[in-house]
Amino acid sequence: MENDLRHVAVIMDGNGRWAAKRGLERIEGHYKGVEAVRELIVSALDEKVEYLTIYAFSKENWGRDKKEVDGLMELFCKTISLEVPSLVEKGVRVRFLCDRNGLSESVKQSLDYCVEKTADCDKMTMLVALNYSGRAEIAEAVRNIAAAALRGEINPNDIDEKVVADNLLTASVPDPDLIIRTSGEERLSNFLLWQAAYSEFYFTDTLWPDFDGDSFRAAVAEFKKRKRRFGKTNQ
Ligand code: IPE
Ligand code: IPE
Ligand code: MG
Repeated sequence: MENDLRHVAVIMDGNGRWAAKRGLERIEGHYKGVEAVRELIVSALDEKVEYLTIYAFSKENWGRDKKEVDGLMELFCKTISLEVPSLVEKGVRVRFLCDRNGLSESVKQSLDYCVEKTADCDKMTMLVALNYSGRAEIAEAVRNIAAAALRGEINPNDIDEKVVADNLLTASVPDPDLIIRTSGEERLSNFLLWQAAYSEFYFTDTLWPDFDGDSFRAAVAEFKKRKRRFGKTNQ
């Protein structure tokens, strides 16, 4: 039987190299990357994926040049607001995996606007990881659980995997079945550390702005062939 593909997560990498190859500024690669995201959404809807997660900006990305970071924040504000009508038309509900601390008021406003306007969409949920890091997410969950224990709301003996999962930003979202990373790098870069426990990985040398519908379908075809065992033996 074919593997079910409910949740695809994508580490969109290689925008800077795409731009450098063409003698362009790095930010131009990010703008081109937005077009690839539009195509990704259409391809994921075609595959009847329920959850699509994209890694847009890691906490570590604050360490880049101010010019690039400012350019990215401006791009997020513009794109998130501009795309709302098309997302609503396609039935895409948007949520953010996001630490709001450190984000500007204008970015926070565009996130809120997008979440509110797409709240009733029910064809697919898109989770945008923005100012996200997996370790920070887990640390925050631990803090929240410890505070609940101190208030006497939970007995430490009752803290199990479900309690931890329910305190992550992805609460109620199934774990990613497939994680795609572009640009030839083969690492997680602090993405969905807890949730990736049994994900299948697909790496491609294609740079993110060149990743199109065919690239997505190739990743899905490979995923369908994988033997997922979850620790058991083949039956
Ligand atoms: C990924 O592309 C997008 C973000 C991290 C925001 P990069 O900007 O990392 O591109 P490369 O890896 O430098 O080519
Ligand atoms: C991962 O890409 C983060 C995003 C795609 C947003 P990076 O380009 O930041 O990752 P590293 O630094 O190569 O690990
Ligand atoms: Mg990169």
